[in-house]
Amino acid sequence: MTTTKPNDLFHPSAEVVAQANVQDYEETYLRSIEDREGFWAEQADTLSWYKKWDSVLDESNAPFYKWFDGGEINIVDNAIDRHLNNANRNKMAIIWEGENGQVRNFSYNGLNREVCQFANVLKSMGVSKGDIVTIYMPQIPELVFAMLACAKIGAVHSVVYGGFSTEALASRIDDAQSRVLITADGGWRRGKAIDLKSIANDAMMRSPSIEVCICVKNNELDVEMEPTRDFWLHDLKALPIASSKCETEQTSAEDPLFILYTSGTTGKPKGMLHTHGGYAVYTSTTHRMAFDIKPQDRWWCAADPGWITGHSYIVYGPLINGATIMLYEGAPNYPYPNRWWQIIENYGINILYTSPTAIRGLMRFGDRWPQKHDLSSLRLLGSVGEPINPEAWRWYHHVIGQDKCPIIDTWWQTETGGFMICPLPITPLKPGSATKPFFGNEMTIVDDDGNEVAANEEGKLVISNPWPGMARTIFKDPERYQDLYWKQTDDGSWRYLAGDSAKKDEDGYIWVIGRMDEVLKVSGYRLGTAEIESALVSHPEVSEAAAVGLPHELKGNAIHTYVILKQGIAPSKDLALALKEHVAHEMGKIATPEAVEFVESLPKTRSGKIMRRVLKARALGQDEGDLSTLEE
Ligand code: PRX
Repeated sequence: MTTTKPNDLFHPSAEVVAQANVQDYEETYLRSIEDREGFWAEQADTLSWYKKWDSVLDESNAPFYKWFDGGEINIVDNAIDRHLNNANRNKMAIIWEGENGQVRNFSYNGLNREVCQFANVLKSMGVSKGDIVTIYMPQIPELVFAMLACAKIGAVHSVVYGGFSTEALASRIDDAQSRVLITADGGWRRGKAIDLKSIANDAMMRSPSIEVCICVKNNELDVEMEPTRDFWLHDLKALPIASSKCETEQTSAEDPLFILYTSGTTGKPKGMLHTHGGYAVYTSTTHRMAFDIKPQDRWWCAADPGWITGHSYIVYGPLINGATIMLYEGAPNYPYPNRWWQIIENYGINILYTSPTAIRGLMRFGDRWPQKHDLSSLRLLGSVGEPINPEAWRWYHHVIGQDKCPIIDTWWQTETGGFMICPLPITPLKPGSATKPFFGNEMTIVDDDGNEVAANEEGKLVISNPWPGMARTIFKDPERYQDLYWKQTDDGSWRYLAGDSAKKDEDGYIWVIGRMDEVLKVSGYRLGTAEIESALVSHPEVSEAAAVGLPHELKGNAIHTYVILKQGIAPSKDLALALKEHVAHEMGKIATPEAVEFVESLPKTRSGKIMRRVLKARALGQDEGDLSTLEE
């Protein structure tokens, strides 16, 4: 094992540097700041447009920026159609392996046929441009086909992560008022069939806007189908309407592509809205430059397509770049902890992009599992979702990357659409730092008054510029979008508030520390305290609840909850267990509290807001800080 201090610099090898797609960071960065629009126009020019844009950036209604306005582009024309006329036509687009060992492969041509058929099925169900289709699926190829089919016909997809449960799905369907839901009978996890359809059925009862439910047969579960509403995809695909030819809709650059719900500071999840043009440019550029994509590469982003990481870097960015994508449905350690390393060896994966939680989880099984496998095909590694602790970084670098693969630690968010801070393969690395801003971006660390803090001082991370991949708004709530994320400075310019605290060191390297708001990062998953608390309060015996995140060795953070019971209800171990199960049932297993503590009262401000900061400090035995706003 290499021994390093936290601030040691890791220099990439001459071989990695020699083949890097970008050879000079500083020069390109300066240019991208001095002529941001010129830089992005050049990137946009690498894509296929039905009609070029009138303006690269329209700031007239800031912070509601428009990119490539007047341009006509469909992201699917770039992700699939254009590859059909070049050498990528018969290249592998998707390699999928199921947990039970089943393998399915799709060339770009094969992918096109699947997406066209799916698009025709959607059309036959009355889906047209601008309609929002909710997708709730396991990690199977049909999830990707469904997303691309929506985009192809100009419909808007709203993917709800397959690990979420009834209430989480119902509230997202309800907010989007979707008429069509695409789901599956179920998925697989650790050898067990997960029944998604009954969760979908319960959610459709709670949110009655769904008129049509298209169901993929994936694991032969005997599920309940409502005859006038529910249809098997394979039955629909057998109809003459589902031909494997379908025109791609000519959408505008600023037409909506998808909504993805994410947890915010308060209240219900926010539907972040992304568009066809800027998002296509941003995801493909960041993917090509930071991960040095080459035509022969096999790329594995081991996230779920249901999160932004999967949207941007399983589906859209890599397909636009014509890469071969690995998809694996299942647990990383099933049936044994070598599953991922076996996949890398079997398929000759060149780039692996995953989360610190997954790395920590696999690290605990020891070096012997990866050492059984030939991992020499790996050229680059990536990390995302939370700060990576130096110990996990070094293990990933040494044991998995065999000291030769730079670790591309990418900081970004559902809202940003793509990487905002990340190294390039040529960047000297410091374990735990996502290094420097991606091109076009100016990142500053500021204090509460908005003034830049000194080097190595902690402050709020802000972005001083618009970028093409940015979310355009919160679906149906532009006011909340502006209030939550944007602040106008005295000179009239706008700053984006990321909600993270960070430091910048004397070399300009940025160290992201964590969230400052009521968002929890649990195993890299983003959850809102509000959603967990409302799941607890929906239990008939609970009166009030609060959730906080406390440090956890594997998960990064674990959910600790404090519950006030209704009068006359006695606390007990069984009730604590029942409440954990209730949250898992409503929200999904990923939101299961680590602990439920019964309390008589909760610390609140005089206006009635729960002071989670105080709960957290108490639990950690730390100073409780300023208590002047605490209610009597
Ligand atoms: O706190 C930051 C953390 O994840 C948050 C965004 O979560 P989400 O929208 O779910 O997107 C995750 C995948 C892009 C950020 O506000 N975060 C993400 N990447 C990193 C990170 N924290 C530290 N280092 C990272 N590389």
